[in-house]
Amino acid sequence: MTAQDTPSEAGAGVVDQSEHPPAAELIEVTKRYEGAETVIALDAVDLSIARGEFVAVVGPSGSGKSTMLNLLGLLDTPTEGTVRLDGRDVTDLSERALTDARRERIGFVFQDFHLLPTLTAVENVTLPTAFESGEYGSRATILLRRVGLGDRLTHTPDELSGGQKQRVAIARSLINEPALLLADEPTGNLDRDTGTKILEEFAQICDRGVGVVAVTHDELVTEYADRTVRLVDGRLRSGERGGDGFAT
Ligand SMILES: Nc1ncnc2c1ncn2[C@@H]1O[C@H](COP(=O)(O)OP(=O)(O)OP(=O)(O)O)[C@@H](O)[C@H]1O
Ligand SMILES: [Mg+2]
Repeated sequence: MTAQDTPSEAGAGVVDQSEHPPAAELIEVTKRYEGAETVIALDAVDLSIARGEFVAVVGPSGSGKSTMLNLLGLLDTPTEGTVRLDGRDVTDLSERALTDARRERIGFVFQDFHLLPTLTAVENVTLPTAFESGEYGSRATILLRRVGLGDRLTHTPDELSGGQKQRVAIARSLINEPALLLADEPTGNLDRDTGTKILEEFAQICDRGVGVVAVTHDELVTEYADRTVRLVDGRLRSGERGGDGFAT
């Protein structure tokens, strides 16, 4: 990856790599599913996400996008290869240590939100912190205001629109101040204006040194991303540049 020596324009916000290891790295990562027919979901993939970098992942259905997101998010382990988080090899960590690393370092925005139906917006946002002490309620409120939901704090998911649920999920993904934010179709349920707002929020998150990876079919996302990588049959084709800051 070459992001470290690329000047940051238009708020791309790539931080100085001499001080920080990449937010996450996949090194020669292969994921194989053995069955009646063996599926190679990822085939020797190398990917490095710098802190402060926004990477969009595109590719046809079945090309390995969700598999890659799950591996980066420590929800799955590779068949071969190495996964690093913040410079630390996490490939062989115990289940318990993986859970801790995930909770402390990674934010998720799942495609179907994964909100708890009986909790309010604020309660859903504070959920990842439930076992910790601290003033998370006010931070949840700040995050919900930032994504434009200041007037929906006590609504439960069934009282929110699809796009509003999406924004609650984004606020929740940020509550633990992750080093890496992973999003599956983050603008999938949003109109263009709201999608733009969310992407501007992602750009600001990047400016604070968080690495963002978004799987998407949305051209708007690739316009905001520093870099777009394409998966085809489990293989990575990288090098495409996003719309701002990285024109060569
Ligand atoms: N548990 C599993 N067992 C066997 N094969 C699997 C399993 N999970 C995924 N696959 C296969 O691995 C390949 C990659 O799947 P993946 O879900 O990563 O694709 P994707 O790019 O996210 O597709 P989509 O855009 O449809 O969500 C597919 O061919 C899929 O059938
Ligand atoms: Mg998928």
